[in-house]
Amino acid sequence: MTTSDETPAVNAWNEWDPLREVVVGSAAGACYEPVEPGNRPRVRGSDRPFPTGPKPRERIARAEEELDGLAALLESRGIVVRRPAEHDFSRPVSTPRFEVANQYCAVCPRDVMATVGNGIIEATMSRRARFFEYEPYRPLVYGYWESDPRVEWTVAPKPTMGPEMYREEFWEWPLEERYRRMHESEFCVTQDQVVFDAADMSRLGRDIIVQESMTTNRPGIRWLKRHLEPRGFRVHPVHFPLDHFPSHIDCTFVPLAPGLVLTNPERPIRDGERRMFTENGWKLVEAPQPVLADEQMPEYCQSSIWLSMNVLSLSPTTVVCEERERPLQELLSGMGMEVLTVPFRNVFEYGGSLHCATWDIRRDGGPEDYFPELGGLPELGGLPGPGGVPAPAGAGR
Ligand code: ARG
Repeated sequence: MTTSDETPAVNAWNEWDPLREVVVGSAAGACYEPVEPGNRPRVRGSDRPFPTGPKPRERIARAEEELDGLAALLESRGIVVRRPAEHDFSRPVSTPRFEVANQYCAVCPRDVMATVGNGIIEATMSRRARFFEYEPYRPLVYGYWESDPRVEWTVAPKPTMGPEMYREEFWEWPLEERYRRMHESEFCVTQDQVVFDAADMSRLGRDIIVQESMTTNRPGIRWLKRHLEPRGFRVHPVHFPLDHFPSHIDCTFVPLAPGLVLTNPERPIRDGERRMFTENGWKLVEAPQPVLADEQMPEYCQSSIWLSMNVLSLSPTTVVCEERERPLQELLSGMGMEVLTVPFRNVFEYGGSLHCATWDIRRDGGPEDYFPELGGLPELGGLPGPGGVPAPAGAGR
């Protein structure tokens, strides 16, 4: 067991402090995403539906090799790397409210699991095929939770994922309709239940931003607010109205260091929401055009070319980029950063790149306030401790 003066077993307050321990996803057993009300996967550049069931062995091997490569790079920098447990994704999921023919994969722990301070949060998830995606991470969660009493573990309420949770017409809306509705933030999930994917969150010390999206609705954000604000955080909903299929914030708005965010030039943040950054002296720097054109992306990839900016920070001055994204690498080295590279394009068809495929467990640093002009910072660890006495700052939170 760790003693109280050591860093807790789980400790990550932002996206950039020096990284000490991380989970890297695995493609083992991955399946194609099935069609369901919250997802209409189509072969890129066509109307053809995806194949069904397990992905071919060679495709899995190519992705796994790149994931192993990332793990080796991180280990060579002294970072502890963990991997998810095996899971049979080819099994159907059947609950009293829905059935789906198979599950997806454990390539993107970021989508499911979040470390916020000394707590782990398992997201509700928004798609049926991902209902049980926390399972491959549970042995790790138990390990952290058992090794250190300061680790808090929270499982967000599971939505039914029944037909009433979805708005299936969403997929049929013509582009003009999407444009007309872009400020409404109504997507394929309705507002009746608490729904969020972990990857719609981004951590900036005492401030957490959460993107309203196809995978995170307003009750989802409200749940995060009511969970996190008594623990000393400020939670801010954010919107990127020009992204008509928003899901997961890490190809859109990527904090790299205190005062510095990498932004997507095609997806500016909503006007009033930019102010929080500019008024606190933050710089928003636009990512350069990705190297791949849309038609060069893998045919089974549902994500945009902006996977280019899905980087993993090892510290405020060290960042891992995809090997062929030279313009971004040059931008970052020009800003004085050390840029490490790995090949990762065979992972793209599993929906993510370097940030998605990882889940940071432990970084240096603590609960800093990087937005002092906002004011109204709730007390840290303000929830009552044992016996109703407020816990001391940093204890058990
Ligand atoms: N929806 C994003 C895009 O296409 C991809 C986000 C991937 N992120 C993730 N955590 N899986 O730009």
